[in-house]
Amino acid sequence: MSAEFDDTMLSLGLARVAEQAALACRPLIGRGDEKAADQAAVNAMREELGKLDIAGVVVIGEGERDEAPMLYIGEEVGTGNGPGVDIALDPLEGTTITAKAMPNALTVISMAPRGTMLHAPDVYMDKLAIGPGYPVDVVSLDMTPTERVEALAKAKGVAPSDITVCVLERPRHQDTITELRGIGASVYLIGDGDVAGVIHCSDAETTGIDMYMGSGGAPEGVLAAGALKCLGGQIWGRLLFRNDDEAGRAAKAGITDLDRIYARDEMVTDDVIFAATGVTTGSMVAGLKTGSGYMETDTMLLRSKTGERRRMTCRHPI
Ligand code: FBP
Repeated sequence: MSAEFDDTMLSLGLARVAEQAALACRPLIGRGDEKAADQAAVNAMREELGKLDIAGVVVIGEGERDEAPMLYIGEEVGTGNGPGVDIALDPLEGTTITAKAMPNALTVISMAPRGTMLHAPDVYMDKLAIGPGYPVDVVSLDMTPTERVEALAKAKGVAPSDITVCVLERPRHQDTITELRGIGASVYLIGDGDVAGVIHCSDAETTGIDMYMGSGGAPEGVLAAGALKCLGGQIWGRLLFRNDDEAGRAAKAGITDLDRIYARDEMVTDDVIFAATGVTTGSMVAGLKTGSGYMETDTMLLRSKTGERRRMTCRHPI
């Protein structure tokens, strides 16, 4: 670990960044305008990041420089007076669910020493995640959904029908869903928000979710890898390219092996801190609450170095 990366000091600042992004979304919950909600979160996150004494570089952000005016990949953030860090962020994970006032929208950000996070391009990633306590590589992306469930069930000492798999509800996942149900597994469908979907695996006893599988955003994959590094659990990801333009993005990010499977610690190679604040109430954190003269946020703050999992509520005077 870099001697300069003082995660104890940096983590509270990181939580504030996630909180401010969530607060900015409040007027836009349920207003049917996902772009406005995202923009509000981006503006607030950028402003708050600017106050941190870090020399930060956004490695997972809002998109390439030419398509994202703020928090683009490569943007330097922070005061510049502090440790060199990589930043992965998703100012609003669940833009559509915020616009529809549905559960599980989060603001998400993580930080690690400079040069230790995968520069994943903004393409899809095939993901597979499980919770802690299993042998390394008990399941793999090269297995079929059936093989994954059977292997995990065997390792857990239960029947395949006792395994619950979280999957994003998308037409592209229909075959997987049918196959999983065909072997008796339970499929927990989510409409959006696969960072939370993956995190659910880290505490199967509480969430009832043993495994996550399917494709979603690659940036969200790296964010989820950081969270699992703090919480325990394994995740693997393989970038998916639908055309030459997407493959070109990988090349720009310095990725040459397009078929490579990245394990959790290859996506985030050193200590990491992770913060997520609820915008709408979900299974991990509560959504924003408005009281008389204040707004309340609920934030999950994680540190991989110590394994600390902090839940912080804060009343922000208004
Ligand atoms: P946004 O918040 O950017 O809308 O992303 C939500 C999300 O569900 C992610 O969690 C997931 O990785 C991705 O969209 C899946 O993409 P798609 O909606 O194209 O299947």
